[in-house]
Amino acid sequence: MKISDTQKKWDAIYQKAVDGEHSAVRVLLENQHLLPDAGTALELACGMAANARFLAQRGLSTTAWDISEVVIERLQASPAMKGLAITFEGRDIVQQPPEAASYDVIVVSYFLDRSLIPLIKRALKPSGLIFYQTFTQTYVNEGGPRSRDFRLADNELLQLFGDYQVLAYREEGRVGELQQGYRDEAWIVAQKP
Ligand SMILES: C[S@@+](CC[C@H](N)C(=O)[O-])C[C@H]1O[C@@H](n2cnc3c(N)ncnc32)[C@H](O)[C@@H]1O
Repeated sequence: MKISDTQKKWDAIYQKAVDGEHSAVRVLLENQHLLPDAGTALELACGMAANARFLAQRGLSTTAWDISEVVIERLQASPAMKGLAITFEGRDIVQQPPEAASYDVIVVSYFLDRSLIPLIKRALKPSGLIFYQTFTQTYVNEGGPRSRDFRLADNELLQLFGDYQVLAYREEGRVGELQQGYRDEAWIVAQKP
């Protein structure tokens, strides 16, 4: 099968990546009390899968997908993932989005493809939770993608999940003392009706 340019790009990045301690993102760490005790979780575009690891350690039966076969092979061999209930799969989530009503929890960090949002929503079971965190178009510090297409507009996560019950949301833009607080990113935890 032909390898896409996106996969080639990420495979090259993960060939060079060094192993190290990767932490789950803040939207999960700061809102972990909202997670169910059991059920199914999916991390999309997982990269080094720190979020999937966290979800599995919390007792969720976890699936993690990334387009890069290189990172998936590394994860499958990683001692940090040993013994955890995580299924890793190399998968282009735009070409092969998740099946409908399949997951209690879906986590996405530092990945934005707006065409996938309806499919992510469809993939959650009723009462399922989305945890989403990524870069914003309004920022204080450099970092993250340069293209605005891959960054959230002001309040965009709230709009994208406006038909959900919003349980937690954070976005501080450029208000107040800029060297303090939570800048450059937004996060949301929201529940499907
Ligand atoms: C900036 S990294 C973020 C990785 C991880 N979510 C994190 O927070 O560290 C973006 C990830 O999206 C993956 N990716 C890009 N396009 C994808 C696609 N179409 N399907 C699945 N994964 C994709 C890349 O391989 C990469 O691991």
